[in-house]
Amino acid sequence: MKKLLLISTFLVMLFASALTFAVDIGVVLPTNVEPRWVQDETRFKEALKDTKYTVEILFSQGSPATERQNVEALVAKGAKVIIICPHDAVAAAASAEVAKKAGAYVISYDRLIMGTDAVDYYVTFDSVEVGKAWGNFLIQNVKKGTKGNPLYLYAGALSDNNSFLFFQGAWEALQPKIFDGTFRVINSSEAVKLMNKKNLTRDEMARIIGQVTTNWDFNVAKRKAEDDLTKAKTTDKGTVYILAPNDGTARAIADAFRADKAVKQYFITGQDAEKASVQYIIDGKQSMTVFKDVRLLVKDSINAAQLLLQGKKPATSGSYDNGKVKVPAIQSEIQVITKDNVKKILIDSGYYSEKDFQW
Ligand code: BGC
Repeated sequence: MKKLLLISTFLVMLFASALTFAVDIGVVLPTNVEPRWVQDETRFKEALKDTKYTVEILFSQGSPATERQNVEALVAKGAKVIIICPHDAVAAAASAEVAKKAGAYVISYDRLIMGTDAVDYYVTFDSVEVGKAWGNFLIQNVKKGTKGNPLYLYAGALSDNNSFLFFQGAWEALQPKIFDGTFRVINSSEAVKLMNKKNLTRDEMARIIGQVTTNWDFNVAKRKAEDDLTKAKTTDKGTVYILAPNDGTARAIADAFRADKAVKQYFITGQDAEKASVQYIIDGKQSMTVFKDVRLLVKDSINAAQLLLQGKKPATSGSYDNGKVKVPAIQSEIQVITKDNVKKILIDSGYYSEKDFQW
């Protein structure tokens, strides 16, 4: 009798835990310290209201070890699809392999996981286009016929494959204008050395990025900009052009340049359309941002996950080489935002509410 009671209690507990812990789709995001990834969390939650699947979202707080633990926890709860945005592209291969071994599908989200065949799909924006949009924006704002315009370069983290794609796009646009003397690179001797070469190898890009990386960290970005301005001559100031790799770092860098009396005017890029940067754009403190509509990325990821859960294959367009395999990709377009179209693209589309900003 006692034995029967024990067994039935055990079964009830097992059933209850299966109910509480069952997860169909697990989402692992790199950090909630940057507004970009909190945006993604919010958009995931909104989009998931309409699905019958259970989803759990976890943050890795910039640690590959935590990322791996997150994946382990999610597969232990039965997740059949793991959507990972890696903190470190190479280190995340281990996390992807944990998921794969447990029989789950792996979707690389926004950033590509490198060096493993454990990635099934890559859901992303066109990151080379993001960089091209920055380069073209800076070029468009140069006074026709002028030469030697000071150009300051900043980049993302070396551990993020996207940093290379963004830089590649930016360099492809800017290089001819550096080579013909329109721009003068102030803060990267490696960029100056490579100014006659349009198509850089990954290694060559790494040399430049290594000198101008912000590590995606606002504080690093601010410190780098301040150091660059301390070293720069007065002739390297006046009207300047700044390639900033995202909104958080753009605001930090812009603040440093605004604080320098010898800087009369600056043009600075960004991406993510973070609320704080939208306000900076309205106020004229940031010149542009690249809007990557996170709703599209989230929708594509959830669609792909649902199809995989139903035993179907998501449609892809093209692929990205991660050093081990060509990962089939589902790609979204980007949009450039300036003061002139900010209202139309971000408010009229319902992405943000007008009352969140001071106009
Ligand atoms: C993302 C950007 C983001 C950056 C820093 C990149 O991989 O594509 O949107 O600003 O990481 O988190």
